Amino acid sequence: MRLDRFLSGQTAFSRKELTAFIRSGAVTIGGAVIRKPDTQIDPEQAEVTLCGKQITYAAHHYYLLHKPAGVITASRDPKQKTVLDLLEPEDRIQGLFPSGRLDIDTEGLLLITNDGALSHQMLSPKHHVAKYYLARLAKPFQQEYTELFRGGILLREGDGEELCQPAECRPVSERLAVLELHEGKYHQVKRMFAAVGNHVENLLRVGIGTLRLPTDLAPGSYFRIFNKDVYSALKNSDISEVCAFCAEYYSSYWINEWK
Ligand code: URA
Repeated sequence: MRLDRFLSGQTAFSRKELTAFIRSGAVTIGGAVIRKPDTQIDPEQAEVTLCGKQITYAAHHYYLLHKPAGVITASRDPKQKTVLDLLEPEDRIQGLFPSGRLDIDTEGLLLITNDGALSHQMLSPKHHVAKYYLARLAKPFQQEYTELFRGGILLREGDGEELCQPAECRPVSERLAVLELHEGKYHQVKRMFAAVGNHVENLLRVGIGTLRLPTDLAPGSYFRIFNKDVYSALKNSDISEVCAFCAEYYSSYWINEWK
């Protein structure tokens, strides 16, 4: 792999900036200054430094973000703050994008990555990776929702209708419910509850596969996670376990001190 390509996959600098760094002698390989951007290196083996800082190679990068409300799920936007704007400048590696979409007012677990294959696996309904949402409802949860959602809800779509895949739904308390989805239609959770006569006041994504929204991660914060931890999470969990998790950690989420 070319040295400039290696560095652009591991840092937030543009190719042009990196070429200038390399030419100025700011890059070493195995302790020797290298000034040619097209130098071929073995990314797994080469000991590369940039301005004295060791650069460790990862084929892809993954950040687990607690998306706050008021930020849009996009890579860039001329007007509104995006989830990528929440990353520290040095973490904004080229090619990152949010995997999946949460509405501007939805909060919770969002992965930011530059791994297209992972994202496809996580989002495609074919792979059935469950997304878990905690919804605060305007009206009390009704037992009939469980059967209605299992049977597949019909959502109005323009002039027609679209059928949702069967979904599991359980109450956590009178007005809190967990919904498990294996697909991601536009405003799906809000529209499903609207279809049964309720209204979602707040929405928090608490899980994807076996990944959970860390209970000590404040809205707007994030951390880096490893490839193996993301891929091994692409399995389903038991909704009862997610309900217990929400009951213990998120039942007072919308009234706690960071709001
Ligand atoms: N369903 C919604 O209605 N909104 C989201 O942000 C995610 C799922």
